[in-house]
Amino acid sequence: WEAKLQLVQRHVRAFPDFPKKGILFRDICPILKDAAALKAVIDLFEEHVRNNLQHVDLIVGLDARGFLFGPLLAQRLGVGFVLVRKKGKLPGATVSVSYDLEYGKAEAEIQEDAVAPGQRVLLVDDLLATGGTLHAAAELMRKQQAEVLGCMVVIELKELNGIDKLKPHRVFSLLQY
Ligand code: PRP
Repeated sequence: WEAKLQLVQRHVRAFPDFPKKGILFRDICPILKDAAALKAVIDLFEEHVRNNLQHVDLIVGLDARGFLFGPLLAQRLGVGFVLVRKKGKLPGATVSVSYDLEYGKAEAEIQEDAVAPGQRVLLVDDLLATGGTLHAAAELMRKQQAEVLGCMVVIELKELNGIDKLKPHRVFSLLQY
């Protein structure tokens, strides 16, 4: 477990002042570029799920970088994957919720038939900052009467207290900064 975590950690880069001044951007692209590091992420996610959660029906990935990790985990678990997208990208009947960004508002959306009432889902994204994005996804799940088993991210930015915003949902992260 520790060796895998260290491998993942070595493949996260930090860029100061991106996308704007004062923000230290944690870049997960090197993880994706390295087969062993990417496998380590999914190994650790899978192990956490198998040790801590009973019966997952679906993995729900968040736009956009949740789409990079979510389907790999879903394949490992032998379950399906659904997308929470930024508004306006999905065809057919959809359900949406708006949420606050640092500046302004955004809307998250799913297809109405993406999850069924009672399904047990796990939310996946690359990073937890304020928690606004995952909170919106959890709200979509609530609207569709799905049961959120928890949230999984590669990176948690602790000082922004996203974990508190997501309560009572539990958050599992591999790396904390
Ligand atoms: C980033 C990140 C998470 C979200 C976390 O995505 O990938 O999805 O922000 O922030 P929060 O916890 O404060 O909501 P971003 O909004 O940059 O969109 P992108 O994935 O489309 O680049």
